[in-house]
Amino acid sequence: MKEYYAERVGTMAGGELGDLMRLVGRDDIISFAGGIPSPDVFPLAELKEITLGLFENEPRQVFQYSSTEGRNELKDFIVEFLSRRGVNTSREELIITSGSQQALDLVAKVLVDPGDPVLVEKPGYVGGIGALKSYQARILGIDMEEDGISIDCLEETLKKTVGKERPVKYIYLVPDYSNPSGARLSVEKRRKILDLAGKYNFYILEDTPYSELSYYEERLDYIKKYDEENRVIMLGSFSKFFVPGLRVAWVCAPRPFIELLSRAKQDADLASSTIGQLIITRAGEKGLVETQARKVREFYRPRLEAMGRALEKYFPAETSWFTPRGGFFFWVKLPAGVNSKELLAKTIDEDKVAFVPGTAFFADPKDGYSYVRLSFSDIEPAMIEEGIKRLGEAIARYSG
Ligand SMILES: Cc1ncc(COP(=O)(O)O)c(C=O)c1O
Repeated sequence: MKEYYAERVGTMAGGELGDLMRLVGRDDIISFAGGIPSPDVFPLAELKEITLGLFENEPRQVFQYSSTEGRNELKDFIVEFLSRRGVNTSREELIITSGSQQALDLVAKVLVDPGDPVLVEKPGYVGGIGALKSYQARILGIDMEEDGISIDCLEETLKKTVGKERPVKYIYLVPDYSNPSGARLSVEKRRKILDLAGKYNFYILEDTPYSELSYYEERLDYIKKYDEENRVIMLGSFSKFFVPGLRVAWVCAPRPFIELLSRAKQDADLASSTIGQLIITRAGEKGLVETQARKVREFYRPRLEAMGRALEKYFPAETSWFTPRGGFFFWVKLPAGVNSKELLAKTIDEDKVAFVPGTAFFADPKDGYSYVRLSFSDIEPAMIEEGIKRLGEAIARYSG
């Protein structure tokens, strides 16, 4: 058949990550690629009890549609959850989404016309970049530093847009333990970005999936807490610190924006899964969500430390990396001349070890050739050591 695909197909992100996710289940490969939470920490027994209770006590609800904006009981739980974290909001300022990945898509759908500039962390989350690409945004990368995006780079970029036909629509930030850099945005920078958003009139999209996964330090205030001008669209997700398979996340934003997201969501999927929302609601009522938020910190910290030790021990001196204090990822710079995509093709076959090449995390993939993202979340410490050993040896071989 003659092909009549839409133009946006040409700008959609590549299937690179999907290919790597398929390696997750392969026993013969140690994969640092996934970036997924570990089922070893899921509260399986409690979830089973809650789920059976739902079938027993409220089967008519379980199998019914939800409203587009999500179930009120769940929204009430999220209101409390956020208020314990310093953000005061209400049901009306929340919408439930099918993962925060859907929220990234809906926000872009509501805000971006083809060619609109949107600022993203450089390197930044592959799924956020993907959503923007599919709406044909003009993606402007803002350099990352150890304490979050470079304010100098941000100001330079904003100055260049002044007087242009198309103003910057928003900045997409993952302030806590970002994916892939692992960096946490400092308090000073959080405030500065809010000031700049006021001065240049753009939204801040604050994505917080790793905020509970802080292994050594207190959580910093969300940017949303200081949002006096209603510019912050905050995304939260149960995926990384609770369970991802229910696909339940939320957006907290001013009411008029929620109404637009609701219209966009109606066109996308009518409503998120009812059973997922009910399970999280009942888990929230029992205190299980907060218990889990504490438990995961203890669970993942030894894995982070195992990877840090293994990198020190086995990676060649010409590599360098950032040691995160939370989240799931190490971001590693390879020796000059080693191309991460070529390296991956070899390590999968010869060394039975996988990772995500840095190319996935830049609007222009060639900016990422000399980086790799290594996730420690779903691998036991002993296997982390073995995998990093293999990878270190492979890097030494290929750079030699
Ligand atoms: C920064 C970031 N945002 C959003 C997501 C999507 O998460 P979910 O759709 O499961 O909520 C991820 C998943 O890897 C992520 O790393």
